[in-house]
Amino acid sequence: MRDYKIAIIVGSLRQDSINRRLANAVAKLGPENFLFDMVRIDDLPLYNEDDDEHQSAAVKRMKAHIASADGLMFVTPEYNRSIPGVLKNAIDHASRPRGESAWRDKPAGLIGASPGAMGTSMAQQHLRNILASLAVPTLTLPEVFIHAKEGFFDEAGSINAISKSLLHHWMARYVAWIIRHAT
Ligand code: FNR
Repeated sequence: MRDYKIAIIVGSLRQDSINRRLANAVAKLGPENFLFDMVRIDDLPLYNEDDDEHQSAAVKRMKAHIASADGLMFVTPEYNRSIPGVLKNAIDHASRPRGESAWRDKPAGLIGASPGAMGTSMAQQHLRNILASLAVPTLTLPEVFIHAKEGFFDEAGSINAISKSLLHHWMARYVAWIIRHAT
């Protein structure tokens, strides 16, 4: 059985990010041959098209990380009804220069958590639009909009039982999706 390398991209730089905790907890639900690894995006410069022909070391490192992955897992908060700027910045960087995108044909899944009742649904819809334009085949159902209330994580950082069953279901579909689309 082959291994699948999964690059996790978290759309929050915050120290206590619930989305980073969610990413770590969900990664533990995957099978042994799915190797999850977080992509660093906190040291990227602001995207500037003038730099396309001489991308910074941080951008090159991030692109290499994505290029080496068999699949992607986006875990993002919602900021003002869309994705955070830091996530869009990372996506734009890795999409350039034209013809050298690191995203193309990498299968992906996306989930997100928010203390708000909508649980990142608008941000995820925006992210789907962006990923479609980058030829990233994205798992559709089940959608995972986590309303991260008190008690969502237990003391060990794992997810409580109710959300865990949805996330187990999501992970099963995600694994099948990656295996079907990975090259
Ligand atoms: C938010 N938050 C938020 N939540 C939401 O459900 N919908 C939204 O549109 C917004 N908008 C928004 C804008 C900005 C600038 C901030 C800082 C926050 C709240 C957000 O979900 C909350 O801060 C989460 O805890 C952020 O995720 P992390 O950093 O904990 O992963």
